[in-house]
Order: sequence, then C-alpha cells, then structure tokens
Amino acid sequence: MNDLEELVQAASADFAAALTPAQLEDAKARYTGKSGRVTELLKGMAALTPEEKKTRGAAINETKRRIEAALTERREALAAAQLEAQLRAEALDVTLPGRQRGVGGLHPVSRTMERIEQIFASMGFDVADGPEIETDWYSFTALNNPENHPARSMQDTFYVDLNDEAGRPLCLRPHTSPMQVRYSRVHAQRHAGLEPMPEIRVIAPGRTYRVDSDATHSPMFHQCEGLWIGENVSFKDLKAVFTDFFRTFFETDDLQLRFRPSFFPFTEPSAEVDIAFADGPLKGRWLEVAGSGQVHPNVVRNFGLDPERYIGFAFGMGPDRLTMLRYGVNDLRLFFDGDLRFLGQFK
Ligand code: PHE
Repeated sequence: MNDLEELVQAASADFAAALTPAQLEDAKARYTGKSGRVTELLKGMAALTPEEKKTRGAAINETKRRIEAALTERREALAAAQLEAQLRAEALDVTLPGRQRGVGGLHPVSRTMERIEQIFASMGFDVADGPEIETDWYSFTALNNPENHPARSMQDTFYVDLNDEAGRPLCLRPHTSPMQVRYSRVHAQRHAGLEPMPEIRVIAPGRTYRVDSDATHSPMFHQCEGLWIGENVSFKDLKAVFTDFFRTFFETDDLQLRFRPSFFPFTEPSAEVDIAFADGPLKGRWLEVAGSGQVHPNVVRNFGLDPERYIGFAFGMGPDRLTMLRYGVNDLRLFFDGDLRFLGQFK
C-alpha cells in the first residue's frame, strides 16, 4: 500500500472513530486543515520536477477527494444517527391511553351529608352550620340538661380547659343540638313582632365528639340535627317527615319505620326511630337510626319563644350510620382511617 492509500485509510478510520460532529471536525483538520497531512503533502511538491508534479499532484488531489468523500459520508451518518436518536427520544405512542389526572372524590360521609341536605331542603328546611367548640350552656344547660345532672353522661364529651369571652366553660359539642338553640334564638329575634312568627324549619349537620371508641363508635362522628317549630307542629308531622326522608334516602317505598319510647332531656315525649328494610341483607331487622321527640317547653323558652304557643319536634340522626347502611360497610373506623383503597371505591 503506498503512502496515499494509507492516508485515505487512516482518515477513514479517524472519521469513523469520531462520534460527534465536533470530533469529526477535529479529525478533518488533521487531514485537510491548514497544517493537515494533505496540505503538508501539497507543500512537499515544491521540490519536484514539473513532470513529477503532474502525476504526484493528480494523485494527491484524488487522495484529497476521497478523504473529503469519506468525511461527507461520515458527516451524513452522524447527522442521521443524531436525528434517529432524537426521534427515538421524542417517540410518542399515540395508541397509549392518556395519562389520567388523579381525580378526587367526595368522602362517603360527605356524600351522605349532601344527600341529607338535599332531601331536607326539598321539604323546606334551612341548613345551619355552627361551632364545634361549644359552650357547656348551649351543649347541655340550654337543652334542659342542668349542670351535674346524670343525664349529661348520655352525651359525655371532651372538655376544653378554656372559657369563652363570657367566662362560660367550653367543650367539644357532643351533638349538633346546640344549633337548635342558636338558630332559634336568632330566628325569634329576627322575627320579633311578626304575627305569626314564620315557622322554624332547620337541619344542622356537622362533626360531633364523644368519649367513645369501637367498631360502631368513633370519638369524632357526624350528626344531623333537625328542628321544626310552629304553632301547630306535632308528632304526626315528625312521622311524615321521617318516613319521607328515609324512603327517599334509601330509595325504597317498602321501608318500615318504628317509634320506640325513649328519653332525652330536651324532648318530651321522646322516641328512638328504627327502620327496617323489606329486602336485602338487613331485611326485617330493626335498625336504630335517630333520636327524636317533641321539644321540651324549657327548651322552647330558651329559644326565646312562648312554649304555650310554639311547639314542635326535634331529631338527631347519625350520617355515619346511614352511610354504613347505604353502602354495606360494617366498621365505622374505615371512614376515618384515611385509606385511599377504601375511600376510592366511593368516587
Ligand atoms: N341530641 C340527641 C343525641 O345526640 C339526639 C336527639 C336530637 C334526640 C334531637 C332528640 C331530639 O343523642
């Protein structure tokens, strides 16, 4: 192999070894650059005779042409490889399913709360919200449950080591019944002098607290209090409202209701409300779903109303319990553990 042939081989090998356009340009400079090897060869021709120059010149030019051809070929190969790599990196499989956004959902108990609110709203009930840290007075005393009375243990709660601005002791509300009093007092004041006073029809859904913890009791749970007060509101209305509510809530007209005599300090007479389904896994079993009763005259007085004139009923139900029944959940704690595998099923 003569020196020129060797040079072409060496250049081709160098170009092949270049892996980037920059490396290739460096390699090119070593051959056809200002002080490259081809340029050196051309300079070396000065000492040759004219005859030699002709043949040697032609041979060197041919060498240069081949080196440049090799260079161009490598340039194109590198550009093609780069394009290929880029296309591969940006490859998009349009047949893949789209990436979903993690869509949240309502907590099953929140769903129940909304459902309860909708059904009662359709019967003309207002929805009232109130404080979870409540005075002892609204939680018990105003509800005809005096200090130190044993009936307080029915709704034993957590006490806070603080008093409100008026110096009254505070506790975590053990039921949403304080809202009966708060709402009614505002209502009575707002409509003072109006004859007759527009009826009070309100529900108070929200979080409540008690010293209780097992599969069917949680220290934090939910309640929905209801109140209907007017000049002529009776147990008959309570029964109609409840029957309508539970049949709508559980989407069945075959549901049975039972009022079982009970005791609450704030109602007289009082009744627990039980329901029974006509079919399904709980068919025929009486299930306790609410407490209720005719509002006690002392409580009506604390509303700022005349108990000789205004009368009505109140009830308190457990949305957690209703959620368990509606979805067939047997452990209340599942609602509050925050396990997304459980909660995600209700989206
Ligand atoms: N507040 C009662 C409870 O939590 C339920 C109730 C409300 C009963 C209103 C009667 C009337 O146990």
